[in-house]
Amino acid sequence: MFKIAISNQKGGCGKTTSSINLAAGLAYAGKKVLLIDLDPQGNSTIGLGIKTENRQTIAELLCQEECEVKDIVQDTYIEGLHILPSDVSLAVADVKLAQIQAKEFALRSKLVDLTYDYIIIDTSPTFGTLLTNAVLAADYIILPVGLDYFNLAGMQNFMDTINRTNKKVGQLVNHRAEILGVLFTFFKMSTNHSKRIYDAINDLFGDKVFNTRIPENVRLKESQEAAKAIFDFDPNCSSAKAYNDFTNELMERLGAYVRN
Ligand SMILES: Nc1ncnc2c1ncn2[C@@H]1O[C@H](COP(=O)(O)OP(=O)(O)O)[C@@H](O)[C@H]1O
Ligand SMILES: [Mg+2]
Repeated sequence: MFKIAISNQKGGCGKTTSSINLAAGLAYAGKKVLLIDLDPQGNSTIGLGIKTENRQTIAELLCQEECEVKDIVQDTYIEGLHILPSDVSLAVADVKLAQIQAKEFALRSKLVDLTYDYIIIDTSPTFGTLLTNAVLAADYIILPVGLDYFNLAGMQNFMDTINRTNKKVGQLVNHRAEILGVLFTFFKMSTNHSKRIYDAINDLFGDKVFNTRIPENVRLKESQEAAKAIFDFDPNCSSAKAYNDFTNELMERLGAYVRN
């Protein structure tokens, strides 16, 4: 079971879009996939048309000892893709979690007996207990980045946070989340500025950068409005092809980890 968090402190860099479409891509590749929406904005939940009214969500899973994955998991319209949904109630979970023992491990401890091929965790941009929970639950982290300066500026900071979390709490349970790769989103090399940012990120991350890049394309926004993965909304568009390529590249990269 591969557990992967899609994370970056920058808002609007394509975390949710990549979470939804990677999870869907893996499910369409025949894998059993659990998408965990760990953002109080609940965008992965909404983007797949999942309702949370009068139902328990990830907030209860994290904060209530007796709540289990089976109590909150929902099917999506895609066969093989399940979701642990989120909504705004997760915003107060951060506060509630503070009073719980071993709060950093709340998510990790609930995932132990699951039998998925892949768990994909969509995270919120803020540092806090929720992000710590994601880092301690995930074996790998994918960093989506756009080509603007704020993306580059935040990356070192983000890496420091991951390293600190690994060191301070991860080692208590012999856990270390590893950066699996950097994914360029909103990709278009039209200006000198974007070329400079592209070069700087490549210098920083070297072969961690995925070969696949997700081009900027409004069809992705529209697919979310329609509550569909891009493969179902417009299977022939450039973004569907890119997310399909990315899914394959990711499976290959993980395959190499397993062989080593
Ligand atoms: N490659 C892309 N091209 C165009 N729009 C995109 C692309 N990726 C994401 N978007 C849109 O940009 C906005 C922010 O993306 P999102 O995935 O929600 O980022 P995050 O989860 O990091 O905040 C959303 O409206 C989304 O539909
Ligand atoms: Mg998001």
